[in-house]
Amino acid sequence: MQEPRWWKECVVYQIYPKSFFDSNSDGIGDIPGITEKLEYLKWLGVDVLWICPVYPSGGFDNGYDISDYESIAGQYGTMEDFEKLLRTCHDCGIKVLLDLVVNHTSDRHPWFMSSQSGTTSPERDLYIWREGRENAEAPSNWGALFGGPAWTQEGPGGQYYLHLFSPRQPDLNWGNEQLRQRIYAMMSRWLDRGVDGFRMDVISLIAKPGEMADGPAGLSGYYDPRAQIAANPELHGYLREMRSSVLDGRDVVTVGEASAIGLEQARVITDPDNGELDMLFQFEHMDLDGGETFKWTDRAIQLPDLKRVMDRWQQGLDTVGWGALFWNNHDQPRMLSRMGDEGRFRETSAKMLATCLHMMKGTPFIYQGEEIGMTNMPFSHVNQLRDNESIQAFWHYTRSGMIPEQDMMQYIRLKCRDNARTPMQWSAQPQAGFTDAVPWMDVNPNYPDVNVQEQRGRPDSILAWYRSLIDLRHRHAVIVYGDYTPYDSDNPHVYAYLRSLDNQTLFVCCNFSASPRTCTLPRGFDGSNVTVLLDNTADSEYLSHSLLAPYESIILLKEGPHHGATHS
Ligand code: NOJ
Repeated sequence: MQEPRWWKECVVYQIYPKSFFDSNSDGIGDIPGITEKLEYLKWLGVDVLWICPVYPSGGFDNGYDISDYESIAGQYGTMEDFEKLLRTCHDCGIKVLLDLVVNHTSDRHPWFMSSQSGTTSPERDLYIWREGRENAEAPSNWGALFGGPAWTQEGPGGQYYLHLFSPRQPDLNWGNEQLRQRIYAMMSRWLDRGVDGFRMDVISLIAKPGEMADGPAGLSGYYDPRAQIAANPELHGYLREMRSSVLDGRDVVTVGEASAIGLEQARVITDPDNGELDMLFQFEHMDLDGGETFKWTDRAIQLPDLKRVMDRWQQGLDTVGWGALFWNNHDQPRMLSRMGDEGRFRETSAKMLATCLHMMKGTPFIYQGEEIGMTNMPFSHVNQLRDNESIQAFWHYTRSGMIPEQDMMQYIRLKCRDNARTPMQWSAQPQAGFTDAVPWMDVNPNYPDVNVQEQRGRPDSILAWYRSLIDLRHRHAVIVYGDYTPYDSDNPHVYAYLRSLDNQTLFVCCNFSASPRTCTLPRGFDGSNVTVLLDNTADSEYLSHSLLAPYESIILLKEGPHHGATHS
């Protein structure tokens, strides 16, 4: 069994502050709003909050373009509000992770404004500046993730600065010792204030290779350099230095967002012997419905692919490292809309998806609204979007003629990040009880049916189901530390697996389809030593006939020796 640690045993809840709860009637969620809702989060049973950026920002990427690492943005409250939130969380046994965004800053950050002021600025080298090539060409053919080139020239004949996301988000130069020391000092100050760790934004991309070489251009006309950057071995040196400078000796947790990181590298990063990060978010499963035009397609994730990817990561990290489990976050469309059923089977399929994830090995993350089955937003017009990524993609693909407008709008409905960012649905009151002003973005029109208030009092709700899953993890060590073994791998409709620890074995069986499906009970699971921990279907025929109802999911616990993953 792996070494026990508190962060392996907990469930994390991710808060997107702008859309969580508005306490001061300005249409924007805020920090006092989170404090007000702590009673709910405590009742739900989560152990840790990850709070997306609340620092002053340039306002281009909803806080992921920071202009001051050490203050709180006025729209979210004050430092006193933050300290009160932290104290109140700690008083009720909840830990708090902040978002650490140190691959880039805002172009409004004083460091960048100084760096930009000229080649002799003492802060010039905190960012990545290069001469252009002949014929006024950028230093390489790298593309930015939010569209266009990754290099912007500072005036005619000037140097170019690197920005992997947008020109408003210049990349920091981690090769500069002074920059690294500034970041470590800033992290230490937050930890001294009492925060319990960090979720680290695109941390896999901080180490830019010396030669930022051209690569094969995609349909956009540019090369996506993420794999080249993530493979730079200097990354490991920076992470180790960060640990020894800031984290050693503190009982905190680090969760890295591991864009473009493969399993082998993830094993190195999360192996405790290497002193890098505690756990990673990997994205291979989230990228299964992408294509040549990035995520802008109507491809859907196929269950056999999802199983293949999840099994590989579950087994690959098993004895070495640790993974962060998620179906949703603020950058992803709602998983219920993606692989579940928004209609007739909304509740059953939401519970099934939750079961499938929460019984895996790793630390589960719940994204706000997931616990009540919030769905994608029926966007009909580009004016309803708030996220610059999708707005720019819309104009880029439609104006270039690559994707017709109607199709692009459909892809946006399916995949855009704003799907996750609509206000939290607290009640059937106007604006879903999120605000009593005009919200910064429209609420999903399904809030009269889908909201916390309705579900909180109903024992068979999705919310109650999440509460039970969290409670199960707290009570059964096999859910936290058990080995993971895939079961019935070739079944195209059912995702099943076993977890085993000492003399307990858990069997988890999830029907990902709207039709009844079969999956044979594993050997040894038909006796009296088997308990049904949860089943989302009344009058299940599973134990009697190995037949799963549409979107049924069942968790069985067996006491006694483990027989291996064989059919009965
Ligand atoms: C990943 C964050 O999750 C996303 O929201 C953001 O746009 C990019 N990193 C850039 O910071």
